[in-house]
Amino acid sequence: MKTKKALTLTKPDDWHVHLRSGEMLSKVLGDTATNFNRAIVMPNLSPPIKTTADAVLYKQEIETALIENSDFIPLMTCYLTDETDPDDLISGFKTGVFTAAKLYPAGATTNSDSGVTNVLLLDSVFSAMSDAGMPLLIHGEVVDHEIDIFDREHKFIELVLEPLRNRHPNLKIVFEHITTRSAVEYVKSGQPDKLAATITPHHLSVNRSDLFAGGVRPHLYCLPIPKKEHHRVALVEAACSGDKRFFLGTDSAPHLIEEKESACGCAGIYNSPNALQTYIAIFEQNNALDKLNSFAALNGPEFYNLQVNTEEVCFIKGANPTSFDDVCVGDSRIKAFAPPFPLFWTVR
Ligand code: NCD
Ligand code: ZN
Repeated sequence: MKTKKALTLTKPDDWHVHLRSGEMLSKVLGDTATNFNRAIVMPNLSPPIKTTADAVLYKQEIETALIENSDFIPLMTCYLTDETDPDDLISGFKTGVFTAAKLYPAGATTNSDSGVTNVLLLDSVFSAMSDAGMPLLIHGEVVDHEIDIFDREHKFIELVLEPLRNRHPNLKIVFEHITTRSAVEYVKSGQPDKLAATITPHHLSVNRSDLFAGGVRPHLYCLPIPKKEHHRVALVEAACSGDKRFFLGTDSAPHLIEEKESACGCAGIYNSPNALQTYIAIFEQNNALDKLNSFAALNGPEFYNLQVNTEEVCFIKGANPTSFDDVCVGDSRIKAFAPPFPLFWTVR
């Protein structure tokens, strides 16, 4: 009998996830908490998590929603605004409440209305973060609607990120959910302990044509928007290279089905149930399964100066594709990400 293919990984962490709050949190949390040991929890709630006190309460809400004996660790982030108080931010970091701070350019994405209108206003905040060694996580898109949606990440590098890094060369930065070849190249030009990037399962699997395959596909719509195929290929090469500057961040972002399937559908893909299986498929397709552990479990902790997890998780390749259920929330549901290829791996 043919032996089943198996794969053992160090238990991964998710370095970018949206857990939401209230009933939605209680329904989605399990998918993250069973698959990952830790997760960087995004602060774009409505209202956002803007102070240390907000983060203490939000962390308690997450911990209360966990099933008994779960050892999942939420790592909290602060939503930067034009009014962020550097003293509160740094004290939140030094006391271990915050792991990082998130920069949303105002208007760039879901719940970013209270985000930063001009990064120059935050120079004193960035200096304080740089001195403290607190990582800055960036949604890297310009918000100028004169700039084509497919060019907003590329332009951000030249107009915002490069000048910001020149003003704060010691600031630790994660360029979140990168989608372009320019972002890959830019990150590779930096020092590994100062500049890194997360890459999502959907940006590794989907290009912009997939968004319109046979009709508009609201469940593939997210920000930054997926780009042309050659950009997707660059992301795959970066992830599969094992380069320590690139690591796993799902950007799993749940929305109710009626918010997605609408005349003005919102941005965000819910992939927590099958993110790991999708990453495995991508690394397997590219003969790079030997690099997956670095991407999924080693590179993130190294950048964040955290311990690597000790637990291991084993996956088995089945003969038939696995399906992943939608998540019910009240009378509605959240659709799980459907990559454009079958998924054969499951957790043993
Ligand atoms: C995210 C969300 O829904 O909160 N949406 C998305 O398309 N990725 C916000 C974000 O990370 O941009
Ligand atoms: Zn996100």
